[in-house]
Amino acid sequence: MEEVKKKRLYSAVQPTNALTIGNYIGAIRNMVALQEEYDCIYAIANMHAITVRQVPAELRKNTLAVLALYMACGLDPAKCTLYIQSHVPCHAELAWVLNTFTYVGEMERMTQFKDKSAKHADNINMGLMDYPVLMAADILLYKADVVPVGIDQRQHLEICRDIAQRFNNVYSPTFVVPEGIYPKIGAKICDLLDPSKKMSKSAENPAGTVFMNDDRDTVIRKFRRAVTDSQSEVRYDPENKPGVSNLLSVYTAFSGKSMQEAEREFAGSGYGDFKLAVGETVADKLAPVQSEQARLLADKQYLESVLRAGAERAGGIAASTLSKVYRKIGFYQL
Ligand code: TRP
Repeated sequence: MEEVKKKRLYSAVQPTNALTIGNYIGAIRNMVALQEEYDCIYAIANMHAITVRQVPAELRKNTLAVLALYMACGLDPAKCTLYIQSHVPCHAELAWVLNTFTYVGEMERMTQFKDKSAKHADNINMGLMDYPVLMAADILLYKADVVPVGIDQRQHLEICRDIAQRFNNVYSPTFVVPEGIYPKIGAKICDLLDPSKKMSKSAENPAGTVFMNDDRDTVIRKFRRAVTDSQSEVRYDPENKPGVSNLLSVYTAFSGKSMQEAEREFAGSGYGDFKLAVGETVADKLAPVQSEQARLLADKQYLESVLRAGAERAGGIAASTLSKVYRKIGFYQL
């Protein structure tokens, strides 16, 4: 059998807070699908997480919770590599080198740095400013061909490409310059109470956000209270009917039905019945994921074996890239 080498894909998620159905629709679902087509390496980015203050016990707990959730959603350690960023020291080491190819001015201009500096004005630490360089190190260590990112990470991916090209130009081709793959439009899920905003785990009012670990009653209650409009027609029209359209997007994502099918199904239904149906569909889909996550979390030994194998594979790839970089820049190696 002829083996075709798959392209490599890299992505990472921060183990902070609970994940939302927006994360599921916009990212997790996609990550699961991509593991068939690519050699996927997925990290749990705990080193990025500490750029804003974390409660240690929660960070530790969320690390396994995120791993278990992703696996419960379908990430399969037999198909992809799953590991914790801090288990591969090469990330910090390459970030240091890349720091010398990155300008203070360009980091100060990063949108997310400016936003987070405003939000955490009492803790504008060097790590927060260096965040994009660490992210570039993540990606470049693995010679990733593609990186799936949300629109909010686009600027970080661009700077990663710039840093890679800069290094390659000064020395010789060393890094693969990665391409971003951006989710199709329509993948963005909005707050149920304010459909002009993206659904966020840190929204002021959690009633507009559905978390992956919300129980059935909570899910249904949140959808029941979702904002719609003063008409009574279930139709996809994001401009004029943002609330209803958002609910339809959620419904199609969770039911697997097309938008047309969904519109037809609810033609003539009132908003009350529609919202209940969306809530029930989401709750039905979340229940088995939640119980699988709980089952995995009860088997810490197995989760740790996944992480060990992941760190071993990731660490091997990363070490070979780092050694090449050290050679090029003139570090004496034994
Ligand atoms: N910054 C990303 C986020 O918050 C997480 C991340 C860290 C990442 N390193 C990465 C994403 C490398 C893609 C590639 O969403």
